[in-house]
Amino acid sequence: MATVTTTSLVAMKRKGEKITMITGYDYPFARILDQAEIDIILVGDSVGVVVAGYKDTLPVTVEEMIYHGRAVVRGCERALVIIDLPFMSYQVSIADAKLQAGRIMKETGAGAVKLEGGECMAETIRALVEIGIPVCGHIGLTPQAVNQLGGFKVQRETERLLKDAEAVAAAGAFALVIECVPAEISAEITRQVEIPTIGIGAGAGCDGQVLVLHDMLGLFDRFRPSFVKQYADLGREASRALTDFSREVKNGTFPGPEHSFK
Ligand code: KIV
Repeated sequence: MATVTTTSLVAMKRKGEKITMITGYDYPFARILDQAEIDIILVGDSVGVVVAGYKDTLPVTVEEMIYHGRAVVRGCERALVIIDLPFMSYQVSIADAKLQAGRIMKETGAGAVKLEGGECMAETIRALVEIGIPVCGHIGLTPQAVNQLGGFKVQRETERLLKDAEAVAAAGAFALVIECVPAEISAEITRQVEIPTIGIGAGAGCDGQVLVLHDMLGLFDRFRPSFVKQYADLGREASRALTDFSREVKNGTFPGPEHSFK
């Protein structure tokens, strides 16, 4: 079972092999994702929303990303683990970006970091790549800029998006996440850049697809974007199991003799 690396992903694009990416935030799910041969586990700052319950990703800290990142890395043998640089850990200065990305790599053992932004982040991406930190870009709807974008909206400025994608690729990123962009625009970006594109709400023309784990497994009920396909309803199953446990304890049927010591 060959491990996935930043360079093997570029080779997959060249061969026309689709790439799978799912977010992961803890050890048990990292093992399940890895054993399902998901190519990339993204420790996304979406952890702030789907695990910690914040309204958006802005409050997430570097320490929180390191905590979740370490748990995921411990559960992985094959997948490439990418960790999000959280809001304000890389925007102030390149020195800051180097320090925080370096800390995340060193303290988690992850294979790469991801940061949001196009042309305006090219210099930062180049600086990180130059010191040996692989970077995945993220353009289109960039959730850390939700207040600037006026909400979680589809991004349609073709020229801007193409420029952003080209700038991120030219700066040395090994892959690019494209979020909430019409399918024709992301297909055009995918043709234009040599690095793999991984879409979320960006149509079938990307080189790969990413979904948020809790959305696709039915573990987050506050909202579900229209582009998400829900593959399971684990929330309902967990709720059934917990209700059964509660009923059995209260009516005295659990624990039975097989769960007790003589
Ligand atoms: O944080 C995250 O989960 C992400 C995905 C939406 C790509 O960045």
